[in-house]
Amino acid sequence: MPAIAIIGIQFGDEGKGKITDVLASSNDIVVRSQGGPNAGHTLFIKNLKLSVHQVPSGIVRDKISILGNGMVINPKLLLSELGDIEKFGFRVSNVKISHKAHVIFPYHQELDGIEEEAKGANKIGTTKQGIGPAYIDKVARSGIRMEDLLNEDILAQKIGVQVKMKGKIFSAYNKPFEYKKEDLVKEFLEYGKNLSKYIVDTDSYLINALKKKKRVLLEGAQGSLLDVDHGTYPFVTSSNTTIGGIISGSGIPPKYITQIVGVMKAYTTRVGSGPFPTELKDNIGEFLQKKGREFGTTTNRPRRCGWEDLVISKAAVDLNGVTEIALTKVDTLGGLEKINVCIEYEIDKKKYNTLPTSAYDFEKAKPIYKTFDGWKDLSEEEWNKIKKSKGKDMPKQLSKYLKFIEHYLGVPIKMLSYGPRRDQIILNPKI
Ligand code: IMP
Repeated sequence: MPAIAIIGIQFGDEGKGKITDVLASSNDIVVRSQGGPNAGHTLFIKNLKLSVHQVPSGIVRDKISILGNGMVINPKLLLSELGDIEKFGFRVSNVKISHKAHVIFPYHQELDGIEEEAKGANKIGTTKQGIGPAYIDKVARSGIRMEDLLNEDILAQKIGVQVKMKGKIFSAYNKPFEYKKEDLVKEFLEYGKNLSKYIVDTDSYLINALKKKKRVLLEGAQGSLLDVDHGTYPFVTSSNTTIGGIISGSGIPPKYITQIVGVMKAYTTRVGSGPFPTELKDNIGEFLQKKGREFGTTTNRPRRCGWEDLVISKAAVDLNGVTEIALTKVDTLGGLEKINVCIEYEIDKKKYNTLPTSAYDFEKAKPIYKTFDGWKDLSEEEWNKIKKSKGKDMPKQLSKYLKFIEHYLGVPIKMLSYGPRRDQIILNPKI
């Protein structure tokens, strides 16, 4: 039975949570493979807003929800998130946490801020959740894993080493290190106690489930352009957000993945620093930000907004092997007289329809646009009619815009989302 991967093909915040939520109903298990509380999916359930940061959004569909081995987990935040999920009446007993996932400690979070400060003008604009420093420890082979929270002796030994090592780093930055080994051990053992019932060998669980023909949904976090290898380095997150990270971070063999859904917005947004060729710093950018409610779920920072950039999305389609597109927030564009789509870049007077090979060139990329006529702002009733017609009754300008995107990316748009609610989506639209 197939596993379906859901991957953002822009700079994150493409609406992956909603797409996962929609697809989760026909799957058995939902898995997150990478990242941590830097992500955030806002779900609207009966008009109530629930934000999930670490637990896969399949939890609200009563599905087995796995936090995979590739994640970095803040156990304190996780417990509070589980509490919120329970308050909404969902079964947290469906949660499983990989024993191999790494733990974010408060010193990671503080270091995130210290390192950003040290970078000065070149700061990344991280979410300050300690993501980078926790992944540094993982790769340096000195990280602490979820299973370590279940063993007092091992935890005390590992925290002891960390307190010494991090103390030196803090003092090199002239910052006081105020974490005591005993306090950390006590606090994190308590988290371990409260989370122990969820901590399991998720790799074996998943492989056995796939062998038993269970259907698995792999929910990506962040976007392809934030991938630590393939994104706009160094303005990226610290994990592989593309298909390779989904595989290594869940332990699922690639042969099971038969469908790769690339999620993209009908325009582009970015949080934090880094190149963004189609960014709009004018009233249209403001229009998109306000109408699209473009404020970060995790940090509440306003997102930078701009036109659709098909050069980046095409690169992400090719890199991930995307088989179909889920286009979100198409309603936000309604009411604009003209709509631009970036189809090429100009860099040092040369034209490119592929990503710049050097990150330095990315900063210089000027977008070359194809301009489309806009369509009117459509009411809920009008969208409902369009949905009823399976898309056939959509304004012809919108249809032209969507056809162009499909043609450019070379993969079909299989989902068209026009609002935050679950039901505001057209499946297999006739464009
Ligand atoms: P970090 O992941 O907190 O280290 O942040 C690194 C970069 O990735 C920053 O530019 C963040 O704004 C961005 N980022 C991290 N997570 C997300 C996300 O879920 N959505 C959008 N941007 C993100």
